[in-house]
Amino acid sequence: MSGMRPTGRLHLGHYFGTLLNWVAFQSEHECFYSIVDWHALTTQYTNTKEIKQHVFEIALDWLCVGIDPDQSTIYVQSAIPEIAELHLLLSMFAPHNWVERDPTLKDLVKVLAANEEEAWEKVSYGLLGYPVLQTADILSMKGELVPVGKDQEAHLEFARDLARRFNHLTGVDFFPEPKPEFTATPSLKGVDGLKMSKSYNNDIKIADTDADTIKRVKQMVTDRTRIAKADPGHTDLCEVPWPWYQIFSKDLTKQVKEECESAAIGCVDCKTRLATYINDYFAPYRAKRMELAKNPERVLQIIEHGNVKARRVAKQTISEMYDILGLFNWSDKQ
Ligand code: TRP
Ligand code: SF4
Repeated sequence: MSGMRPTGRLHLGHYFGTLLNWVAFQSEHECFYSIVDWHALTTQYTNTKEIKQHVFEIALDWLCVGIDPDQSTIYVQSAIPEIAELHLLLSMFAPHNWVERDPTLKDLVKVLAANEEEAWEKVSYGLLGYPVLQTADILSMKGELVPVGKDQEAHLEFARDLARRFNHLTGVDFFPEPKPEFTATPSLKGVDGLKMSKSYNNDIKIADTDADTIKRVKQMVTDRTRIAKADPGHTDLCEVPWPWYQIFSKDLTKQVKEECESAAIGCVDCKTRLATYINDYFAPYRAKRMELAKNPERVLQIIEHGNVKARRVAKQTISEMYDILGLFNWSDKQ
């Protein structure tokens, strides 16, 4: 089980950090992939105009890279009210100091406002519950493996701890302890050399055109000590293109290194070539995305179908949970 917030089009960091695993896992596991729109509300509650559009865009990004609706269940969090129900039940078992020490939340607080007191005022009850809601996402589907980006490590530890605590306190071995899974390329650098992120505006999107991509790649920071084209370059000092070559064209790296260090090629040409590799790699995905985008009804159909499947699983989990807790199981009778 895994999920992403609908906050905009996905970039190549999402692809290499997470989606590669999502695609690979489909043939080996039963997969549930959720568009977590309630999670988007934890920070976007005053700015919700674009969330619907983003749900659609993220589904297009998933489908075009090869998430196969015949193998995986693609669904939207808010279509499964049982996840909110599980969130409530789990919240009773979640110590408040666990949620307060969430490092992701602490980082967010730093960017929300200049001083800490003011920032904490902006942290809603809902935002505080972010990791509990994420745990509900995972455990509602009884998720065992969670393919995510490296930045989700703390949230997964939280989910594991909470699952274990529930099992321990109820004395029932009910929830699996979910384990994170990372790709071989967990972090991809943006064009400025920092971690690729939409908020740093240093990203290349899956859905970008060839021309957008070329423009972006040309902004990549190279070897800062190389001033003139005639100067030999140093691949070990090359901040972005060189690490990207390792991903896109491993068999070319020897040649790139030779040409760089002998000044046979300038950085501009070297980056233009890299952009070609990137564009060739994503060409089939981009073409598929354009096709799918013409058929929004089909995309909605896929999601609606996934919603039904995911809801069935979540209902079963909740029903078992009421039994464990010794509450009436009213909805079974409705
Ligand atoms: N917090 C995750 C992120 O920002 C998104 C997420 C929500 C998620 N629920 C999840 C990821 C469940 C994995 C499983 O990327
Ligand atoms: Fe990097 Fe290529 Fe320039 Fe060498 S020639 S520094 S590998 S961009």
